[in-house]
Amino acid sequence: MKICIIGTGYVGLVTGPCLAELGNVITCVDNNEDKIKQLKEGVIPIYEPGLDEIIHRNVEQGRISFTTSIEEGVKKSDIIFIAVSTPPKPNGQADLSSVANVAQQVAYSMDSYKVIVDKSTVPVKTGEKVAETIKRYNKHNIDFDVVSNPEFLREGSAVMDFMHPDRIVIGVTSQRAAKIMTELYEPLGAQIMITNIKSAEIIKHASNSFLAMKISFANELASVCELAGADIEEVVAGMGSDSRIGRAFLNAGIGYGGSCFPKDVSAFIRIAEDLGHDFHILKEVERINREQRERFIKKIEDTLWVVKDKQIGILGLAFKPNTDDMRSAPSIDIINHLQAEGASIRAYDPEAMKVAEKLLEDVMFCKDPYEVADGSDALVICTEWDEFKNIDLERIRKLLTHPIIIDGRNIFVPGDMDRNGFLYKSIGR
Ligand code: UDX
Repeated sequence: MKICIIGTGYVGLVTGPCLAELGNVITCVDNNEDKIKQLKEGVIPIYEPGLDEIIHRNVEQGRISFTTSIEEGVKKSDIIFIAVSTPPKPNGQADLSSVANVAQQVAYSMDSYKVIVDKSTVPVKTGEKVAETIKRYNKHNIDFDVVSNPEFLREGSAVMDFMHPDRIVIGVTSQRAAKIMTELYEPLGAQIMITNIKSAEIIKHASNSFLAMKISFANELASVCELAGADIEEVVAGMGSDSRIGRAFLNAGIGYGGSCFPKDVSAFIRIAEDLGHDFHILKEVERINREQRERFIKKIEDTLWVVKDKQIGILGLAFKPNTDDMRSAPSIDIINHLQAEGASIRAYDPEAMKVAEKLLEDVMFCKDPYEVADGSDALVICTEWDEFKNIDLERIRKLLTHPIIIDGRNIFVPGDMDRNGFLYKSIGR
């Protein structure tokens, strides 16, 4: 099929090339001229395992092209994906101006029946608005259908997630569009769920909010375990093996971050509010997530007693492992707070230091965990990189001024750490 993807951000640049890999012909459109120029020269602006290869192969075989012209992309294609960003406004609502603008331009450019697919994360009822907009600006009354097809891609495994999804959600108002979208995704062999457009839109926000809720539940549970003398790792293993609950997203830690969960939970609270419903439980999810960071900071302070003039080493800056993404990373709040209390900070992250340098001031960025530990009064683990799990603990202990590790991601076993001579504090154990 011939497909136009508008927006070469994270979602568009994974969706387009993966659809090309399935044999479709893709035109990727972006209004950022530099980005399109770079893509034409083979420079891929994001890092995702496997993505470079897929893009280069499909460009070579003539299945992907890049342009800044929506008109060109729309005229060449049968299916148009809108994959532009919907950043949060200060009040938590999603800013839909890019979606609206693209819908208008698609309408101007249409010359035959098109399926217009919303892939961006948007509030429920956006599909209706997109359809109204296209109708209004589509002067020749060309036939079209609007579809909602939310994405569930995780950073670091987006290509795998696209190729092996748990389910594909397709919200439609017409059988014609349902048939075209089913044919498009059939090669993946995954479960395809046809719903109405509003349900599809809600599925996206509900899924991310539910996962965030699981994490906040685990974090609350961790506090109870600490007070009771239980072990959160044993508790979530026991709970998670009930197939109705599941083990995934029950890891207690320092709270969720990243570009999706904080934004989507907050947006969903606003969406419900606008519809006249107070989504109490999600407000609690947000509060717990905020407090989890504060509790962790307090744990550091309680362990060190006075933070002022101490040197604290931070291992891990990215919001999760295998990415350089620092958006809403808990490490930022933690470092800012410790600095405000008068601590000096050394830090190391395998991928995120270049990004972190722009966000954090007065941090000494180190070449490895050992340089971080050298002369530090304590080590604080903020991201569970595999590199840290295999660290030489004996060497670390000798380099630290005091053998203290405060672990926000539970990467070590407390008994082992005691035997290795550490004062080891973790979450919920
Ligand atoms: C998430 C969703 O998983 C994905 O479906 C959606 O499309 C985008 O948002 P992502 O933000 O890439 O993906 O990361 P994810 O792996 O889901 O982790 C999100 C945050 O939750 C991270 O900060 C992570 O550290 C935290 N987390 C995750 C926990 O604290 N505990 C867990 O058990 C799982």
